[in-house]
Amino acid sequence: MTALDTRTDTPAVLRFPEGFRWGTATAAYQIEGAAAEDGRTPSIWDTFSRTPGKVRNGDTGDIAADHYHRVDEDIALMRRLGVTDYRFSIAWPRVQPTGRGPAVRKGLDFYRRLADSLLDAGIRPVATLYHWDLPQELEDAGGWPHRETAYRFAEYADIMADALGDRVATWTTLNEPWCAAFLGYGNGVHAPGRTSDLAALRAAHHLNLAHGLAARVLRGALPGSAEVSLTLNLHAVRARSQAPEDVDAARRIDAVGNRIFLDPVFHGRLPEDLVRDTAAVTDWSFVQDGDLAAAAAPLDSLGINYYSPAVVAAGSSESPSPWAGAERHVRFEPAPGPRTAMDWPVDADGLHELLVRLRDELPGVPLVITENGAAYDDYADPSGQVKDPERVAYLHAHLAAVHRALADGADVRGYFLWSLLDNFEWAYGYSKRFGIVHVDFATQRRTLKDSARWYAEVIARGGLAES
Ligand code: FCB
Repeated sequence: MTALDTRTDTPAVLRFPEGFRWGTATAAYQIEGAAAEDGRTPSIWDTFSRTPGKVRNGDTGDIAADHYHRVDEDIALMRRLGVTDYRFSIAWPRVQPTGRGPAVRKGLDFYRRLADSLLDAGIRPVATLYHWDLPQELEDAGGWPHRETAYRFAEYADIMADALGDRVATWTTLNEPWCAAFLGYGNGVHAPGRTSDLAALRAAHHLNLAHGLAARVLRGALPGSAEVSLTLNLHAVRARSQAPEDVDAARRIDAVGNRIFLDPVFHGRLPEDLVRDTAAVTDWSFVQDGDLAAAAAPLDSLGINYYSPAVVAAGSSESPSPWAGAERHVRFEPAPGPRTAMDWPVDADGLHELLVRLRDELPGVPLVITENGAAYDDYADPSGQVKDPERVAYLHAHLAAVHRALADGADVRGYFLWSLLDNFEWAYGYSKRFGIVHVDFATQRRTLKDSARWYAEVIARGGLAES
């Protein structure tokens, strides 16, 4: 396959800095398939997706986009697009099936091959260690609410640094620990599907600890030039009005949605207001001496996943809720404007707000957009084309917001589009398509959507042709 013809006479009006990274992102369980091959054992998502009623249509990741067998084709696609970087995740149960003990060689080989092929294609591999697929055995032993899981994670990080450290230079410990803790253990819409505020808060703490322990291990095992990062889905939360009770509702969501991770990881402390807000749930005695210092391991960048903002007011939320300690004080209001197929509002200003906030609160920490994108009901028309103008408009608006944040002094180093391929969208199964490459799941045929061609042009041009 040759590169797309991206020659254009239109220069970039919004040009991104030299060296800006242009990537696409995926996650293991969402694309790999091969769920029972080469020694892989079930993760919590295999178990959850087999539990009736948890995933739309009873879909599972058993086959997904069959990436495990089509990795060469998928890398060739990225090469055509001209991406500089590819963010993928490693399936823990593929390389250390029980979450303990020695690694499985075939599992490691798959990721070694992936990294080598990326490097051959001139694409920088960016590996995420945990994108939600906890080995089921570790969940059976207590999962993230259980302290031991953090130590197991650090051991797994060591295995991976040893196996891939010579070829992968950029590492992310966790993807969106908020979702892992609060959707997994709080409202139960994600695996493992538990519904307990206490379990969710314990999980959040142990994820912070796991991150810090793993970051230290990676630092020790990787060459000095390697970069260590963490990806958070920070909530761009806005109060519906300036009334004190609405402002307080936004403060509560900021505490349990954002600062619960930012404060331990960047400042080695728990937010005092969060501890107060959650006093009826826990006294936080599961936080042991030294844990917060461990969580605050130095990082080379912060990854941000952004899709849409949240508008909140005083009120109460349905139960079970992913907002431990805030559910009886906060109501989520529909944000105005157009929506994606996820029913998520399209609002690029939220991304700008987040980046400018981080510029101020975390000076000196480079930022990377590790996910941004949108689902629409795409289909291949009779001529085989997939027209997705809404996605192009969404991406354009969000890249323009990133550009605006750069102009305002935010240190943004790269942008990873979610996602390369249509894939298993967690509780929505295959009903939501986020890819810039369409996947016909019956045949596994890949077709570039118009947005893929558009993104290739943006990359070739180094920016947007219109403001
Ligand atoms: C994020 C997840 C990613 C994908 C997008 C749509 O929360 O990290 O796996 O599902 O949402």
